[in-house]
Amino acid sequence: MLSAPAQAAVTARAPAKVNLLLEVGPLRDDGYHDLLTVFQALDLAEDVTATAADGFSVEVEGAGGVDVTGVPLDERNLALRAALLLAERAGVRGGVHLSVRKGVPVAGGMAGGSADAAAALVACDALWQLHLGLDALGELGAELGADVPFCLHGRTAVGTGRGDRLVPVLTAAPFHWVLVLAGRGLSTPAVFAECDRLREVSGAPVPEADAGERLRAVEAALRAGDPAALGAALANDLQEAACSLAPELSGTLAAGAAAGALAGLVSGSGPTVALLAASAPHARRVAAALRPALGERVRTATGPVPGARVLEAVRAR
Ligand code: C5P
Repeated sequence: MLSAPAQAAVTARAPAKVNLLLEVGPLRDDGYHDLLTVFQALDLAEDVTATAADGFSVEVEGAGGVDVTGVPLDERNLALRAALLLAERAGVRGGVHLSVRKGVPVAGGMAGGSADAAAALVACDALWQLHLGLDALGELGAELGADVPFCLHGRTAVGTGRGDRLVPVLTAAPFHWVLVLAGRGLSTPAVFAECDRLREVSGAPVPEADAGERLRAVEAALRAGDPAALGAALANDLQEAACSLAPELSGTLAAGAAAGALAGLVSGSGPTVALLAASAPHARRVAAALRPALGERVRTATGPVPGARVLEAVRAR
């Protein structure tokens, strides 16, 4: 039998996400919250090139103006952790050098770190010719972060559990977004903790993340490809907490409404604000209206897009 030629380097790409719906249930004993969420993958991406090496190392650069200051280059780096975990579980000898090109804002609530892990898993799986498949990589990825399985699968999906159990959702049309990146990041654990604190202060019973009316409204809008209906159905239980920690987000949401967006919400734990538009030209008009005040922080994006995949493989000589 002929064995496949060894790869010298593999580049993989994984997408950012926006949460169209994020219902947060009670805090669990393991420190996570039960979620009911609808993810959509957007065409902002992380590219990871895995090159055969003796040890394990990572370098990071920003693409399209993404500021990578503060991204760790040690074993806290999610791409590096993904490569180490895959090598350990698959019994790979030797190492890898990872070169990460970040097109997703850092600590922005768009799963940039999880996309790094997803792209690293796919790139290393191909480099080492493990052929593990998306489901096995997703199980490994879930150990690294709740959003990693979605970044592997992409498109549009309902997530339950920690957000890592996925069911695909039918989506009729592309949806057009305007993203407003924040000047600073927000820590995901801090936003969940603030959500718990606000709930305790309010004294209201904590709702279950229960796949009810709100999910049906989002699914119907996606199936119909109806941006106005989707705009009316967008909801994020973490938004109040994100706005409490970063009060300027309320102003960004108001600016989006004034610029004519159909609707807006904080993406995941924030602080990126995602504004929904009716079409690509409408997204460009909303972005143009926001740019005089917000400049380079304004981007347009489209979803859904596929999950993590190999872009290029260079054979060993
Ligand atoms: O899994 P990930 O590393 O993305 O999660 C970061 C933090 O966000 C967790 O440690 C937890 O504090 C919070 N989180 C949560 N419930 C979830 C997902 C994340 O409380 N379902």
